[in-house]
Amino acid sequence: MGKKGKERARERREQRLQEISHLRTVPYSPHERWWSKETVAVVTGANRGIGYEIARQLAVHGLHVVLTSRDFDRALGATTNLQAEGLSVQPCQLDITDAGSVMSFASWIQLEHGGIDVLVNNAGVNFNRGADNSVEFAEIVIKTNYYGTKRMIETMLPLMRPSSFGARIVNVSSRLGRANGRRNKISDPTLRENLMKDETLSEELLDEMLTNFLSQVNYGAWQNGGWPQMYTDYSLSKLALNVYTRLTARRLAERLGTHRVYINCFCPGWVKTQMTNWEGNMSTEEGADTGVWMALLPVENISSGSFYAERREIDF
Ligand SMILES: NC(=O)c1ccc[n+]([C@@H]2O[C@H](COP(=O)([O-])OP(=O)(O)OC[C@H]3O[C@@H](n4cnc5c(N)ncnc54)[C@H](OP(=O)(O)O)[C@@H]3O)[C@@H](O)[C@H]2O)c1
Repeated sequence: MGKKGKERARERREQRLQEISHLRTVPYSPHERWWSKETVAVVTGANRGIGYEIARQLAVHGLHVVLTSRDFDRALGATTNLQAEGLSVQPCQLDITDAGSVMSFASWIQLEHGGIDVLVNNAGVNFNRGADNSVEFAEIVIKTNYYGTKRMIETMLPLMRPSSFGARIVNVSSRLGRANGRRNKISDPTLRENLMKDETLSEELLDEMLTNFLSQVNYGAWQNGGWPQMYTDYSLSKLALNVYTRLTARRLAERLGTHRVYINCFCPGWVKTQMTNWEGNMSTEEGADTGVWMALLPVENISSGSFYAERREIDF
């Protein structure tokens, strides 16, 4: 993109952010407010950053939020801040890479609330900064962003409460994980096509792709593997998450009536958090917006298996 193109893109984004900031001042009508203070939303990695802000905004809208963190004291600290604002928030320990922690969490939720209505999979890691593209932590990145999130989805699905409004899963992803991104994609067109087509898309295909990447990392041979060029491990983990969102949506479409579960993903934009070393062009308030909007959409407007950014559907 040339200098003028970049300038126009920046202007369009700023205009959209202004439109959204106006939309956020418009209160939900009683007809749109399908939730109540009994509605339970779980947010992972919510002790800071975008997750904290998603938890805060959901609680401001009147849901009961279970604020989770891999460190209980951090969950407690964040919860205490929000409770001081009069919000209905409860802390819980949850490390999405630890099968035992996820199982204990699920048992606790079952006992405490009998189930949940909204799951926001926000927890994630990225060890690359600026122009650096190290894959030193590739295993932990894939294990957290893809396999950890997948574990949460599979463990929580049986606990999603039936409702005429449908239960909702929101996955925090990234445009870096687009299969057909302009500047950052897998170079093999057949693999890209197989990931995009319903007939060829499968969990096995994802596992095979990630195993292949991690083994190339181990052997120091990943650089010529045709992987995304920017933040390779992170981009691949989010690509897998996006593909898994579509795959799961297809499976969940078989659930009808009050058993409907809607699953979507979104990109928060480039947000000033610890992950970006507080670089970025958006606040956490702006970054959290689309996820909160998706979680609260009236049932007649909600889709499943879609990818969003700035409250609009975008291509995978
Ligand atoms: N910031 C951006 O520009 C941007 C852009 C696109 C997408 N995202 C996505 O947005 C989400 C939130 O990122 P952020 O920018 O808010 O980053 P952040 O400030 O680094 O927050 C990440 C959160 O995830 C938690 N976490 C990491 N590993 C975990 C695990 N195994 N189990 C449970 N929690 C874990 C962290 O907990 P600790 O405090 O214990 O480390 C922290 O609460 C991530 O999924 C990220 O990939 C961010």
